[in-house]
Amino acid sequence: MHELDHYIYPHRVLHWLVALGVVLSLASGLTLGFLGFERLVELIGQSVTNALYTAHKTLGITLLLLMTLRIITRLAFVVPDHDPPLNAFERIVSTSVHHLLYLALVVMPVLGALATATGGFPVQFFHWTLPNILGKNEALSEALFLWHERFGWAIIVLITLHVSGALYHWWIKRDNVMKRMSLFD
Ligand code: HEM
Ligand code: HEM
Repeated sequence: MHELDHYIYPHRVLHWLVALGVVLSLASGLTLGFLGFERLVELIGQSVTNALYTAHKTLGITLLLLMTLRIITRLAFVVPDHDPPLNAFERIVSTSVHHLLYLALVVMPVLGALATATGGFPVQFFHWTLPNILGKNEALSEALFLWHERFGWAIIVLITLHVSGALYHWWIKRDNVMKRMSLFD
């Protein structure tokens, strides 16, 4: 198949890396959010709990870096035309969901990092701790964590719409939409 039937290969790789990363960060984030630090320590011990927080933060910051690369590969290279073309409804809904996903996946890690830093907790990225330029502010941290949670739910809704759309094109309409992002054909 001709290359222009697909997004460029690096953009497709980034799509699937981000998809995997988002699922893992939602799963780890919801575990932290629902159980909380004390309950987790009771269940899995102090060191595994700390590792889970570090993994969630590292994953989130990695996603911010991947999203930055992805925005570059999206803006710098030609996007293939839809063949057959999408109808107006499909075009408006899919473009809105894609743009909102881009926005949410950049805002989400920034909220997480700022909420963590203003709460006086370390913003860990692998074995490094990023400098805290904001200082401690518990009220601000609480507000930012609330928005981190709200954006989490928004991302879940957007991904549900997005995956439903992808599966509709792949299994019901059987058009070429899935191929555009596929790594294998
Ligand atoms: C779980 C997290 C996911 C996120 C955050 C995500 C995000 C996105 C975004 C933002 C786009 C717009 C294309 C671009 O400009 O980069 C896109 C395209 C696409 N995604 Fe996903 N995606 C996810 C999962 C999936 C899954 C599980 C599937 C398949 C079942 C899928 C199939 C597609 C397809 C086929 C396109 C191309 C749509 C088109 O060309 O109009 N995505 N995705
Ligand atoms: C795209 C990236 C990210 C996603 C999808 C994500 C997702 C989530 C979700 C869904 C929650 C549960 C919210 C709740 O129920 O309270 C959560 C909690 C949390 N996130 Fe993230 N997160 C991301 C990035 C980050 C980053 C970069 C940091 C910090 C550097 C971070 C720190 C935290 C912390 C500390 C919690 C626990 C909050 C609590 O105990 O209430 N997150 N995350």
